[in-house]
Amino acid sequence: MTDIGMHVLELDTPALWVDLDIMDKNITCLAGYFNKDGVSWRPHTKGIKIPAIAHKLLDAGAIGITCAKLSEAEVMAAGGIKDILIANQVVGETKVNRLVNLRHHADVMVAVDDIGNAVDISKAAEQVGLKVRTLIELDSGMQRCGLQPGPNVVEFARKLTDLPGIQLAGLMAWEGHVCKIEDAAEKKAQTEKAVGSLVHTAKLCREAGIAIPIVSCGGTGDFRISANIPGVTEIQAGGGIFGDLTYQKWGADTQFSLFILATICSHALPGRAVVDAGRKAMNVEYSMPIVRDCPGAKFVRMAAEHGTLQLDDETDQLVKVGDKINIIPGYEDLTVFLYDKLYGVRNGKVEVIWEVQGRGKLT
Ligand SMILES: Cc1ncc(COP(=O)(O)O)c(C=O)c1O
Repeated sequence: MTDIGMHVLELDTPALWVDLDIMDKNITCLAGYFNKDGVSWRPHTKGIKIPAIAHKLLDAGAIGITCAKLSEAEVMAAGGIKDILIANQVVGETKVNRLVNLRHHADVMVAVDDIGNAVDISKAAEQVGLKVRTLIELDSGMQRCGLQPGPNVVEFARKLTDLPGIQLAGLMAWEGHVCKIEDAAEKKAQTEKAVGSLVHTAKLCREAGIAIPIVSCGGTGDFRISANIPGVTEIQAGGGIFGDLTYQKWGADTQFSLFILATICSHALPGRAVVDAGRKAMNVEYSMPIVRDCPGAKFVRMAAEHGTLQLDDETDQLVKVGDKINIIPGYEDLTVFLYDKLYGVRNGKVEVIWEVQGRGKLT
């Protein structure tokens, strides 16, 4: 039996669903922002994980997609996506061979910050007569991977241009440390500083005669600032199509489109109800989830399988065991991958069921 055509409230719980109209609006909103700005859009799909949705992003104007992992890129390539940036290092013989293999199916690009790794990729690519596009990753302040910005990158870039199996395509960085800055002026200043170091390094490379076509950065939490910094050519913002409480906190203006349907499984005490969805059904680390359209019910505790709600007097009178509620998750990136399926819902009815194909793709 299929769930297609069912009312969303009839689904068994917990169930992850997306409001297709709202998601479409969010996609249009993001795409419009970048088109208007003259900066290309290469949305990150690390939280999206579904090739069919990635195709919607391309249809809306994205030039390609960004993935976190090689295995996610493999899923997207198998789903027909051609232009893919793996915004991470692909290290070790097994992965390098997979990367070169994938190059036969998609024009995949990869981040590098180590010359030994670049040599390995180049050798493997050369053996099959291909080149792999690479972006040099810089650490623009997040203190994750990447070379420190500045003149040292010019030398590294020159070495890459000497490698026969590598095509240096540009520079990338992810200024994730700025997203949570609350003060708007401070956030702007810190974003400009971080992205400025990336753009400046691209300029140094170009002055040394090295072509840097791509300068890539930006996410849902900061693109309104980063996309306006001259010299940036691509923005990686992706998760905003689902909206969520963390993105809202970080200043994104896309709307909530992703929900978890859950069932009240216990109301044994006045003022307290428990739902059948806990930490295994949603992430609570970045923001505590909230109940949609029900300010009188507030999550106060999350166990592995249970979420505990505190109810105000009025809500307490209304709630019954067996009721279904919709939850707005705290952070989509750490929620979608917990599910096998994502239900696409329009006007309350299940219109499409997507397998979360990128689930478990960690390698
Ligand atoms: C490399 C990279 N780019 C961009 C982003 C922002 O992605 P999103 O817009 O989905 O939050 C992230 C988030 O972790 C990232 O790791």
